[in-house]
Amino acid sequence: MKNTQRNFVDHIIPHRIPKQKGVGKAPVNIALSKYWGKRNVDLNLPTNSSLSISLPGLGTETQIEWIENQSDQIYLNETKMAFDSSFAQRIRIFLDLFRPSPKGGFIVNTVNSVPTAAGLASSASGYAALVLALNDCFQWGLPLKRLSLLARLGSGSASRSLYEGFALWHKGQLDNGMDSYAEKIDQAWPELCIGLLEIDISTKPISSTKGMQNTVNHCELYQAWPDKAEADLQKIHRAIQDKNFQQLGQTAENNALAMHATMIATWPPILYWQPESVAAMHKIWQLRNDGCNVYFTMDAGPNLKLLFLKQDATVIQTHFPSIKIIQPFPQ
Ligand code: DP6
Repeated sequence: MKNTQRNFVDHIIPHRIPKQKGVGKAPVNIALSKYWGKRNVDLNLPTNSSLSISLPGLGTETQIEWIENQSDQIYLNETKMAFDSSFAQRIRIFLDLFRPSPKGGFIVNTVNSVPTAAGLASSASGYAALVLALNDCFQWGLPLKRLSLLARLGSGSASRSLYEGFALWHKGQLDNGMDSYAEKIDQAWPELCIGLLEIDISTKPISSTKGMQNTVNHCELYQAWPDKAEADLQKIHRAIQDKNFQQLGQTAENNALAMHATMIATWPPILYWQPESVAAMHKIWQLRNDGCNVYFTMDAGPNLKLLFLKQDATVIQTHFPSIKIIQPFPQ
């Protein structure tokens, strides 16, 4: 465990005395304006701000309990994870920041309603739910902005999963990372739909953590990314306020493709797409040429997330029979 992380946590939490079993529940989120690259790896500080939408009903539910004289036990979807599995290791390192003593352990039960590590951001909902469960277990009573700071340490995109609806993660200016948190954008858009198009749900070949680090270090195009990302975020924020769907869709799709362009231009190259991903992109562009207002975004994986309005849901479902359509806002 890094001292910088422990000091950071010390500034946020009031104590390390567990009071009860804790529970937490958080949604997955899809970035419309992406986070790609860290300016500080230890504190998980991003090079650019990002903006997301949460998907209610898809996410993680976590229970946590502190037990004296016992080591950590981590369960994922009711299966005990091997001590040296990468999933358990990453969680244990995170939990080190909160341990009341070296002698006990946490029992963590985490249930995902999304495929783990399939580019559907289960680490985002996972660390957000874990932080909420810790807040409950230790009875800290921390506000969501403070919990967002803690979730960020687990996974950057988790900072945005504390909220329903739209969330904006401010990259922050401070070296100590205390101003790099997400907050809710208080704007509902009931007509907005997200379509999840699963191309391949097996574990991705390179994690987003490693992928973005390689891009930052080995891509000459990357220097253009932070300014573009900030400009896109402003456009998307305005599109949300104006309910300008075309502006939202166009900017989100272009932002995702620009992020993937930096990955592809990295050496060695990082390409998350499968042939079926590219075929789906062509199909979306064709539909758009035919007058259907549909756009897509993609994360560190081969799957596509389609953006469209409710009035086009039937057409989309017909062209993509396997798509899962989510309405992120109350109807
Ligand atoms: C492409 O939040 O998974 O989904 O902070 O290293 O855990 P770490 O990375 P992570 O990266 C998410 C990258 C992305 C874009 C986004 O969600 O903004």
